[in-house]
Amino acid sequence: MATDTPAAGLSNLAQEDRRFPPDPAFAAQAVASSALYEQARADRLGFWAQQARSLLDWSRDFTTTLDWDDAPFAKWFEDGQLNVAYNCADRHVAAGNGERVAIHFEGEPGDTRTITYAELTALVKKCANVLLSLGVRKGDRVAIYLPMIPEAVVAMLACARIGAAHSVVFGGFSADALRSRIQDAEASLVITSDGGYRRGKATALKPAVDTALASGADTVSNVLVVRRTGQDVEWTPGRDLWWHEAMEQADDEHVAEPMDAEQPLFILYTSGTTGNPKGILHTSGGYLTQVAFTHRNVFDLHPQTDVYWCTADVGWVTGHSYVVYGPLANGATQVIYEGTPETPHQGRWWEIVAKFGVTILYTAPTAIRTFMKWGEQIPAQHDLSSLRLLGSVGESINPEAWMWYRRVIGADRTPIVDTWWQTETGAIMVSPLPGVTTTKPGSAQVPLPGISVDVLSDAGEPVPNEQAGYLVLTEPWPAMLRGIWGDPDRYKETYWSRFEHRYFAGDGAKRDEDGDIWLLGRVDDVMNVSGHRLSTIEIESALVSHPKVAEAAVVGAADETTGQAVCAFVILRSGAQEGPDIGTELREHVANQIGGIAKPRKILVVAELPKTRSGKIMRRLLRDVAEKRHIGDVTTLADSSVMDLIASGLDSASQE
Ligand code: PRX
Repeated sequence: MATDTPAAGLSNLAQEDRRFPPDPAFAAQAVASSALYEQARADRLGFWAQQARSLLDWSRDFTTTLDWDDAPFAKWFEDGQLNVAYNCADRHVAAGNGERVAIHFEGEPGDTRTITYAELTALVKKCANVLLSLGVRKGDRVAIYLPMIPEAVVAMLACARIGAAHSVVFGGFSADALRSRIQDAEASLVITSDGGYRRGKATALKPAVDTALASGADTVSNVLVVRRTGQDVEWTPGRDLWWHEAMEQADDEHVAEPMDAEQPLFILYTSGTTGNPKGILHTSGGYLTQVAFTHRNVFDLHPQTDVYWCTADVGWVTGHSYVVYGPLANGATQVIYEGTPETPHQGRWWEIVAKFGVTILYTAPTAIRTFMKWGEQIPAQHDLSSLRLLGSVGESINPEAWMWYRRVIGADRTPIVDTWWQTETGAIMVSPLPGVTTTKPGSAQVPLPGISVDVLSDAGEPVPNEQAGYLVLTEPWPAMLRGIWGDPDRYKETYWSRFEHRYFAGDGAKRDEDGDIWLLGRVDDVMNVSGHRLSTIEIESALVSHPKVAEAAVVGAADETTGQAVCAFVILRSGAQEGPDIGTELREHVANQIGGIAKPRKILVVAELPKTRSGKIMRRLLRDVAEKRHIGDVTTLADSSVMDLIASGLDSASQE
């Protein structure tokens, strides 16, 4: 399965000697303390039980913390009951914080909405009644295909409130990707919008839903449509309903029913090493405990005074855990921005920080590198003095990007938390604690309290410090995935078979001389493009489904801004006319099959692909070519002249 050794990325890491100890003034006010590590070390399960009880309201207390008898299938807080939506909305109103702002929404065209916790609660209750009136029941699945607008949050919480699992599909995915996700989860309802605003234009979403439903997603009985842009939409009477009309007619009152801690909360599809995306299943009590704990401690949240902004889309796990569930469980005030950073100008984010007085910013290294490219004169035009903590997620942050982030955005003052986690882990696992940890640029550093990790060799032995190995999690954690939707064997095989009793994350890592963790990138066929996970094999399958393509190999080539860029090598079918536009044609095809984010940056038509004598494509060599490196060892190739041909053709590659 692993095609690369984790040592591959090691040479990129220079020795890093810079250290940033916590500022004493910050530490004196910090939410986190080193006592958390001690408590968790002394009694890990007791620690999580205490967090669950202190951070959340339970309708029925639990008596067991973890049931691991059926490992790797975990149950946390099993006999406890709670309602996730009640914990994220109503209880803040009950505690007298109904007038606190939950969401400052900023639309890309500049329209704004302010939603208090009292208003959020009222919207969620109404939406829960809409779902019930459409026949959605506890245990059903609802697909959500929306832009970054408050209705996405309301829809997710309304599902949680009635015990229906949501499956949010990122708005950038194609009709085909939406169809396969609806089919896999057998969703009975789709919540979408006419469209949204992106890069100064109204983009459409509803047509993709219509196409998905016409091409086989036949479990869906209704489509609820938010009016965002006002553009014309096709309408199927009886099936399609306007959100605003349904909400207007819905009852105001809805009493949240207690749910079992293990009630499915959501399914979120993510790319793996094989063809179809996996439906990662998360449940209620353990997930909410860990997202609330990490959001509070990793971001040093002071809910009365902080204004928090996580720039992720709700279509990704970061949006689930750190836009919706973590911040709202903690009663935070947050910013939600619909659009892109350069619309209408490259200072838009910084204008938003100044406008709302954002204190905590959580974003991805790819965004930071883009801002570096645009230049520090742009953020310098805005007042960023409200910022007091900066976070990073999605891929390793290069030490220089870390330093720039701290100096230019954080005025050389703010702590930076580099947070490692995954769709599967549900919540942050490895990260400094602000006010406690002395940080190092580029390192995610230490497992959080209550989390156990190790770095193993190929043979499954812990490797010494300074040596690369595979990152594993050695104990179950509350927000862990409960499985892959409909495929328990794939769950065991993917995560629990590489090393016995250990969760295999798919990342390479090393510990430095102090024992701090450095992430070295994926060790499987998963690429990371702008912090988004893409599968090489999924894109290869999409390319091969084009009538002109006989064979395809896809690699992620290092890219200064996006981390990796998709680079495709294709062999055309005999008789297929290459034509000047084959690159554009194939790129569009991939966009239709998966979505715009999966479009190859470079496409190279080749006569042969480098293969071993047993027929395995040697992606390592293709990556060498794509990154314009000296081509490595070719002795295992069936035909070693292939690489010369490919390398000489690189300059004629179709490039976007
Ligand atoms: O390779 C790691 C990388 O992103 C993968 C998880 O992707 P996804 O499930 O889409 O979730 C992304 C947001 C949590 C990981 O296997 N990754 C994520 N955060 C970091 C990271 N790599 C290095 N450092 C990080 N902070």
